[in-house]
Amino acid sequence: MSNVVIVGAQWGDEGKGKVVDLYTEHADVVVRFGGGANAGHTLVVNGEKLVTHLIPSGVLRKGVRCVLGDGMVVHPGVLLEEMADLKARGLLQDDKDLLIGEKAHVILPIHTLIDGLREQQKGALGTTKRGIGPAYESKVGRRGIRMGDLLRPERLPALVERTLDEAAPLIRHLGGTPPTAAEILADLEDKAARLGRYIGDAARYVYGEIRKGRSVLFEGAQGALLDIDHGTYPFVTSSSTTAGGACSGTGIGPTEIDSVIGIAKAYTTRVGAGPVPTELEGDAGARLREAGAEFGATTGRPRRCGWLDVAALRVAVRLNGMTGLAITKLDVLGGMGPLKVCVGYQVTDAGGRVEDRDELPLDPGDIVAARPIYEDVAGWDAVTREVREVADLPVAARKYVSRIEALTGVEVVLLSVGPGRAETMVIKHPFR
Ligand code: GDP
Ligand code: IMO
Ligand code: MG
Repeated sequence: MSNVVIVGAQWGDEGKGKVVDLYTEHADVVVRFGGGANAGHTLVVNGEKLVTHLIPSGVLRKGVRCVLGDGMVVHPGVLLEEMADLKARGLLQDDKDLLIGEKAHVILPIHTLIDGLREQQKGALGTTKRGIGPAYESKVGRRGIRMGDLLRPERLPALVERTLDEAAPLIRHLGGTPPTAAEILADLEDKAARLGRYIGDAARYVYGEIRKGRSVLFEGAQGALLDIDHGTYPFVTSSSTTAGGACSGTGIGPTEIDSVIGIAKAYTTRVGAGPVPTELEGDAGARLREAGAEFGATTGRPRRCGWLDVAALRVAVRLNGMTGLAITKLDVLGGMGPLKVCVGYQVTDAGGRVEDRDELPLDPGDIVAARPIYEDVAGWDAVTREVREVADLPVAARKYVSRIEALTGVEVVLLSVGPGRAETMVIKHPFR
């Protein structure tokens, strides 16, 4: 039995969904611990594609319970749509397949409205406009509405009034028109009636399963560099995306976690604003985007693409206490010609001193001023989608992976060479 945390090791979209789906074969429970429908996790099984936003990516495996952890922010309408889609595919047939943490916060229409209005202002962050930031602001400001409140409809009018009182002036200030309390309330009552039977004490449930010796997979969303505390602030999301968030976002203590697997693409991508020092502009970036089909699973935005940044990966290794690394999209680098890997940065500190560092600086101003230090690495031309044994990979691809291992000090436990389940080499399984 094992409890395994899966986290993104870069700026999101590393292929967490694929790896979670794969590992769920050995899990009894899969629990998302943070974020909301800003996530888009893609699963490709038997050629059929499915994108999950709120529901854990373990949903394809029968008999596995999917839990929306208390650290999440849940848009009831988006959740119902996702549930309907999954039910139409023959999944989530039993009410017990899904449990929604009663302490997870509700994303209200005012949150999505504020997020969208802010995105029209100068200096926008390029959010997913799913209301994530404003919903976490309500939570931390102790004005939020929780999923458990939907089970107590008598509370809702006062809670809605309180939230709207504070939000309405802001919405007007941003040039929008606030919805009325009656509109919000009617919508919440409708959603409460449809979701009520799935809402419960997720923290106690997950703990109970662990005590029974069951295996729990904690599914991270976003990536280490988008972490609210430790990422490239302010170009981050509003939740704890690193392994510590698996504990705070589910109510499970750190001593219950057996391993932390970081998922990293063989190169770098990012959607939204903020500096990406290894970004490739022009043709080279476009080739990667094309080859990797790098368009957002949630918003469809083209992802910014660039060389692998091992100096950024080292930050993710440190922040997550990573025990293993899964490298995805290795296939995409085939045919790209000679490759580069960023192994460090030349950083100028506030006193004007220049030094070489082995980690990406995290302050956006420092990032812009830093100079990436590259190592040239041989590329390979062979198509690797069909390769199933590490020994059958081109020598240069094997060397690329070994170099990542040597530079990060973390064992590579999985290699992915395509979106499908079979297009994977499991080197070492995290479940004992
Ligand atoms: P997530 O948010 O971390 O789950 O990742 P996304 O689903 O947003 O983006 C990853 C994309 O890459 C999806 O379209 C996956 O189907 C795809 N993908 C995952 N692993 C591989 C791989 O090894 N090779 C290729 N070519 N595509 C992959
Ligand atoms: P998954 O789980 C990639 C980015 C947004 C924006 C910033 C803030 O699929 O890897 P937000 O809407 O969270 O307030 O946006 O974070 N972002 C992601 N980028 N993958 C994600 O999720 C992301 N979730 C948020 O693009 O830059
Ligand atoms: Mg994604």
